[in-house]
Amino acid sequence: MNQDDKKQAAAEKALSLIPKGTYVGIGTGSTVNFLIDALARSKFDIKGAVATSQETERRLTAAGIAVVTPAESGRLPVYIDGADEINHSLQMIKGGGGALLREKVVASISDSFICIADDSKYVSKLGKFPLPVEVLPFARSVVAKALFRMGGEANLRVGFKTDGGHEILDVTGLDLSRPLTMEDELNKIVGVMDNGIFARNAANVLVLGTKYGAELISAK
Ligand code: A5P
Repeated sequence: MNQDDKKQAAAEKALSLIPKGTYVGIGTGSTVNFLIDALARSKFDIKGAVATSQETERRLTAAGIAVVTPAESGRLPVYIDGADEINHSLQMIKGGGGALLREKVVASISDSFICIADDSKYVSKLGKFPLPVEVLPFARSVVAKALFRMGGEANLRVGFKTDGGHEILDVTGLDLSRPLTMEDELNKIVGVMDNGIFARNAANVLVLGTKYGAELISAK
């Protein structure tokens, strides 16, 4: 089983966790793309979806799934998305695809966050994956200096703008041993729109694709 097979196994298993007839939050990335394909194939009976990126909006629309805004959906029973890293408390690093701000909005209005990932993403300690920090372009150098004072090295994601028109700094070197504290500290820097630590909005369950198929994992 290669990584794509594992992503697909996780995505297809997650389909069975979606309540019928409701709006669902749908994230961004290659694992979620398997979920959208599976939703399209199954003609699954959801009311519609709130998408965390324009790319996901396009894919959902092409699959015949209605895309609505958070204003139209209200609270969501379930949000399904991938992650770049997820630890054993189900805290995550996200934003590798640059959609972290909308992802955090959708997580904040969802009763349950189901993370779908292949087993390369499941780690005992967050931080090998560079942490995406979304910044107001005007404040980029101000934020980079503040990150430096916190021990981080910020690298601009060159040629990339988020759906919200912001830039991403991919940051290495920060101490992520207390994810909740670091998530809050980073968001105190003026000019930071949000950062890719999802500890306040950790996943409720992880559907992990492994060589044996997909398994459900709870926080340890
Ligand atoms: C998007 O901004 C990210 O948070 C994604 O959830 C993450 O990059 C996972 O992507 P893959 O499923 O492609 O690994």
